[in-house]
Amino acid sequence: MKQMFVCAGILSLCLLGFTTRNSEADFVKENFKYANKQLKTMLQETGNKQNAFPRTINKAGKLVTTNMYDWTPGFFPGSLWNAYEYMEDTEMKTAARTWTEQLEPLKTFTGHHDLGFMMYCSYGNAYQQTGNDAYKNILVQSARSLSTRFNPTTGCIKSWNTFKSWHGNKTYNFPVIIDNMMNLELLFFASKVTGDTSYRHVAVSHAVNTMKYQIRKDYSSFHVVCYDTINGKVAGQETAQGYADNSTWSRGQAWGIYGFTMVYRETRDPRFLKTAQGMADFFIRHKNLPADKVPYWDFNANQAGYTPGVNSNARKVTQSYRDASAAAIVASALFELSTYVSGAKSKEYKNAAIKMLHSLGSDAYRAKPGTNGNFLLMHCVGSIPHNGEIDVPLVYADYYFLEALNRYDRLLKGESLFAKG
Ligand code: GLY
Repeated sequence: MKQMFVCAGILSLCLLGFTTRNSEADFVKENFKYANKQLKTMLQETGNKQNAFPRTINKAGKLVTTNMYDWTPGFFPGSLWNAYEYMEDTEMKTAARTWTEQLEPLKTFTGHHDLGFMMYCSYGNAYQQTGNDAYKNILVQSARSLSTRFNPTTGCIKSWNTFKSWHGNKTYNFPVIIDNMMNLELLFFASKVTGDTSYRHVAVSHAVNTMKYQIRKDYSSFHVVCYDTINGKVAGQETAQGYADNSTWSRGQAWGIYGFTMVYRETRDPRFLKTAQGMADFFIRHKNLPADKVPYWDFNANQAGYTPGVNSNARKVTQSYRDASAAAIVASALFELSTYVSGAKSKEYKNAAIKMLHSLGSDAYRAKPGTNGNFLLMHCVGSIPHNGEIDVPLVYADYYFLEALNRYDRLLKGESLFAKG
């Protein structure tokens, strides 16, 4: 009798697991169907216009684009590749190719550090999905270009050419921002496909220094760390897009979680896993993270003990804006991080990622078809200190939302996250 109860219990648990898996697979499918439609409308509206990459919308709700030299041109082609990966819609593949191939001139670009975002989100996805050697060669040349920004004295890749402090008293000439962790994936790729370890050395050196000087003891992060190029020492720890120098800018923390998780994937060095976990725990356990797990734009905005620089627009903004882009980046990262740990930790990361995805996929953040300039997600923040892109859609939020959905889909199917890599 007791055995019968145990068997029935196990059977109903299995059925519950099966039903949940099915409804979660339906959730992913519904989101991709929606995204495919929305992206196709965006494609119709952008037409064949060259060098105009979707970024956000203006106050009138009209599409705002950038040229290819901004940091975000890789995300629209990358979103098309992510949609193609799930939907296998050949129209999407053709568009993804066309939009990606426009970016080829960037392979020799050395004007800022964002080449990883620009090329790995476009050509990186293109190579993974097609195996086309021409794409691989473009990525390797891009890694070569990015490496020219590495300085052996600081041990880091220079992010921007200069950074003017919000305090109005200094201009730094070797700023490194936490976002730069994301550009390292391109370098690891180049070493893997060429056998030339120099790219990897640059990436590891950059990650080690970021871990030392950009991550605080409680695993929160400084947005900008500026170095002295004569002695290699830290010359300043400030913010550009966060509320205050000592606050935690949510998207910066998101880049760190994603970046250190990826660097752990590539190195298996436990120091990077510890950092990724520390940063993730800071984010998902923070008392200021709302219940839907979509963060405010900064964890410390308008709190005692945090003061924006005299020239920062953050001084004037008291409204608590959310940043859906940070949640999308963290959701994608946490799916990966959940595969590097076990037991309760793994469940905690995976459940947080699922919660974030469900919030983003709800009416609170996901736009109605044909609205929001045909972007998918609403309520993102570009930069409050610069008074730009506040409570708007942002192309990178959509990219990481789709990437997270693909990762979730693979986990639901019991597949490896990087099977196609
Ligand atoms: N990498 C720039 C930003 O996150 O806004």
